[in-house]
Amino acid sequence: MWIRQTRGWSLPESQVTDERIYRGRRRFLQGGAALALGTTLAPRAVFGKPMARLDPLGELAESRFSTDEDLNSYEQITSYNNFYEFGTGKEDPAARAPALLQTEPWSVEISGEVEKPGKVGFEDLLGAHTLEERIYRLRCVEAWSMVVPWAGIPLAEVIKRFQPTSRAKYVRFETLHDPEQMPAQRDDGGGFSWLASLEWPYVEGLRMDEAMNPLALLAVGLYGKEMPAQNGAPIRLVVPWKYGFKSIKSIVRIHFQEEQPVNTWNKIAPNEYGFYANVNPKVDHPRWSQARERRIGDFFKRDTLMFNGYGEQIAHLYKGMDLKKHF
Ligand code: MTE
Repeated sequence: MWIRQTRGWSLPESQVTDERIYRGRRRFLQGGAALALGTTLAPRAVFGKPMARLDPLGELAESRFSTDEDLNSYEQITSYNNFYEFGTGKEDPAARAPALLQTEPWSVEISGEVEKPGKVGFEDLLGAHTLEERIYRLRCVEAWSMVVPWAGIPLAEVIKRFQPTSRAKYVRFETLHDPEQMPAQRDDGGGFSWLASLEWPYVEGLRMDEAMNPLALLAVGLYGKEMPAQNGAPIRLVVPWKYGFKSIKSIVRIHFQEEQPVNTWNKIAPNEYGFYANVNPKVDHPRWSQARERRIGDFFKRDTLMFNGYGEQIAHLYKGMDLKKHF
């Protein structure tokens, strides 16, 4: 699985400069400027008014949920990916997605148990909210991890706008299904034959209280720039206390329902991937240990933290549950 480990010093000069500016801006905001502005910056746009896409994204509100751990580089985050719609290799998404994935125009269908269903354009979806920076740990079920400076909006804020009914117990998310853009969805799996046997689109789900937790983020960018195609442009989920496969990319539908959704990996291998998929160093994957992980760019492994270190915010959601059974 260790195909490529790029260090900051081996980046092209243009990217290094970008990162320095980015990190410099963060330091500036941390000292003084952020205090003067308060913790929340002004919204980028007013609800209902479509706005042009911005890249760079402009000022992002700082979040108390961000970690101050060292960031992975832009190069690492955008060149070592899982996005099976574009192939199984870690380098396939970066090699294929930017040319194939059409992200403009983009809309998200809101459906199921909601008072306000409908199709919402990407710009309208975003326009109502303040973009926040969230620097989160991402722990893949394959035992590697990264630290990513996402930009996005709390999922809870978006959900509230569409007013789920009392029957909405779960939220189900779907990725785009378009074999022309996503080679693995073609009859021959785009050259990866076992991918052809998967049921597309990629589906994920959360329990309603998980989705409403302030940590759950709908991300539209990283490193202050629009979301790269390989990372799930233009909008993806980020649930940092769960294994990375819950963080579904390129979302086109958010559906509210009474019954627990069947997520893609659970359907493929129910004994290996559960619905909850909370990061848990004490529950091993049937084929490997989950006790430790390798941070991309590091040589030595580190211990994996329960709930990926986010227990303070979310452990109460699972009180009384047998986490070995509900893995
Ligand atoms: N979403 C879709 N639609 N397809 C995928 O294959 N892979 C998941 C998740 N979201 C995946 C997906 C997995 S296994 C991981 S670890 C993360 O995306 C990886 O996100 P990253 O490539 O931005 O690091």
